Amino acid sequence: MKTSKIIQKNVQVDDFTANFNEIGSGSKTILFLHGFPFDKSSWDKQLNFLEKKGYKTFALDIRGFGNSTSGTKTFSIDRFADDLIQFMDLKGIKKAVVCGLSMGGYILLNVVSRYPDRLNGIILCDTQCLADSQEAKQKRMDTIQKLTENGAGEFADGFIQKVFFQKALEQKKDLVIKTKSIILKTSIASLKSGLEAIAGRNNTCSVLSEITMPALIICGKEDVITPPALSKEMHKNIKNSTLCLIENAGHLSNLERPIAFNNALFKFLHSVYS
Ligand code: MLT
Repeated sequence: MKTSKIIQKNVQVDDFTANFNEIGSGSKTILFLHGFPFDKSSWDKQLNFLEKKGYKTFALDIRGFGNSTSGTKTFSIDRFADDLIQFMDLKGIKKAVVCGLSMGGYILLNVVSRYPDRLNGIILCDTQCLADSQEAKQKRMDTIQKLTENGAGEFADGFIQKVFFQKALEQKKDLVIKTKSIILKTSIASLKSGLEAIAGRNNTCSVLSEITMPALIICGKEDVITPPALSKEMHKNIKNSTLCLIENAGHLSNLERPIAFNNALFKFLHSVYS
């Protein structure tokens, strides 16, 4: 079977240049949204896998992250959701399955509440519908202050200790190093604006019971940032949802256990697009 390669492209979306990866052909479209503060390369293993299965996939660098520029407008989860819809318009995508991890999931749940007609199905990975508590907001503001004072090094070290669980930190050194380098490539301005956007997000839990489209919820069993209990709660409230908890994975389940993740993805997409 002929396979193609991931192609990196740019498109002007509103006030910023969006950089994205694209692969595959046909009408069965899936869009991937990365977490904070990562980039579209997080999804390479999913893009290559799905291309072989006959899907057309895109992974977008959210404004200010990866190779996308920041534009001039204030970062917010609303803005990121609007960016995604404009991106879909520009690419002629009327509807797609969207998969979002963590911050990508916050954006996806925002799209669910504001643009449900643009979705064929949703995949919520290591994420939650809750907004930040006052305490969580304060922590993010403290982090912003520390980023201003000390730069990104200390932040990257601390964040890496949370996204991976102990065994992964010891056994998946290459992945840990690569993930840290992506954090360090992100500008301080984007780290700070990203944290403000996340802290300012709305609670989207009330929309869950209205979801009628197919939904897959995936979470690493060892995720301490958005623990499995939050995924179980979303699963309880979304009628047509399937829950997949991945053993031996922390917050970045797609990177830590790509085969288990891709199997769940494929089973779900096959049911949506058959
Ligand atoms: C992410 O991975 O996108 C962030 O950890 C989300 C968060 O901090 O709430």
